Amino acid sequence: MRELLLHCRPGFEGETAAEMQELSGAKGIAGYAVTKDNSALVRFVCPQEGDAERLMTKLRFRDLIFARQWALGEWLDVPVEDRISPIITACSKGPIASCVWLETADTNDGKAMAALTKKLSRPLETALTKTRFVRPAKTDAPRLHLCFESGQRVFVGWSWASNAAPWPMGIPRLKVPRDAPSRSTLKLEEAWHHFVPRDEWDSRMAPGMTAVDLGAAPGGWTWQLVNRHMNVIAVDNGPMAPSLMDSGQVEHIQADGYMFKPKRTVHWMVCDIVDKPARSSALLGRWIGRGWCREAIINFKLPMKQRYQEVMQCMEHVQADLDAAGIKASVACKQLYSDREEVTCHVRVLHAGSFKIQALG
Ligand SMILES: C[S@@+](CC[C@H](N)C(=O)[O-])C[C@H]1O[C@@H](n2cnc3c(N)ncnc32)[C@H](O)[C@@H]1O
Repeated sequence: MRELLLHCRPGFEGETAAEMQELSGAKGIAGYAVTKDNSALVRFVCPQEGDAERLMTKLRFRDLIFARQWALGEWLDVPVEDRISPIITACSKGPIASCVWLETADTNDGKAMAALTKKLSRPLETALTKTRFVRPAKTDAPRLHLCFESGQRVFVGWSWASNAAPWPMGIPRLKVPRDAPSRSTLKLEEAWHHFVPRDEWDSRMAPGMTAVDLGAAPGGWTWQLVNRHMNVIAVDNGPMAPSLMDSGQVEHIQADGYMFKPKRTVHWMVCDIVDKPARSSALLGRWIGRGWCREAIINFKLPMKQRYQEVMQCMEHVQADLDAAGIKASVACKQLYSDREEVTCHVRVLHAGSFKIQALG
């Protein structure tokens, strides 16, 4: 298997390719990206047998910014009369899988194939479990990805749960809660799914913790914080949804989010203000660097051309601020499914034990 197939947001193939190119170079593994504009897929080919697998093992999926999902495998042509037999043959050459995911690209062409993948789903699963290439009991085995580019061409690949997105195509199945004031609410929820391991939610987003939401109105992100029973300072000149204010957990401050300084340190700062990434990264560096919060989630909007470079610069600026302040923290970015022309950045102070809620002078 000489290839990694990566899913991304349509239009971000160049960024995904640039990132893979840089990371494979840093690991000393030769490879090249093959992209097609707006295809939502990037092929990363490593000509040397074994290199694609080595690359996948050496990279941490959660460090990739633009890839939503990935799999190691190969392309296969399948005749319309019998697609299943060649897929079974291809699977015999790979590892045993715990499950099979039928995928397409996240494009209109991809969506148009939903009927085909739906039709194939049951017979494929039956054939794969009968031949024992898929064994649901082997929960530690990789997932088998069958990504249909067309009715006659499919990528047969594998990903390991510990080093890949937990959803087919990297698309989480999240629903806008009925009483949330805006769809944006999903961004914060998805960010938590991505940046905070599930078994740490109760300690890191605990009842009674404090949070500041900059650019909070109408309150989609605040809703998520309130839903975790946190106390929230919502900073925005715009109006907050009355239902949120009725919770008694929200203090609304009408002020400029860039000028706002909390009276006491808080556990979380989140920010969804639409502004230049350089301003957002400076804000983030200030909050963490001055010890105003322990964890932060902020969006970097990317309306410019050099989007990959811009994100790298933002991360460097944040890191430089933290270094200057002598703070050790993890800094990570991800283009979430709910992110459009933007990425979400998460920072967490690592010596969290020494973080205390205290008054700020
Ligand atoms: C994308 S909306 C936020 C949506 C919100 N996260 C939600 O889930 O409902 C951006 C908000 O930032 C606010 N905003 C823009 N510039 C700001 C600033 N300098 N300070 C505070 N808020 C600002 C706007 O008023 C707007 O309500």
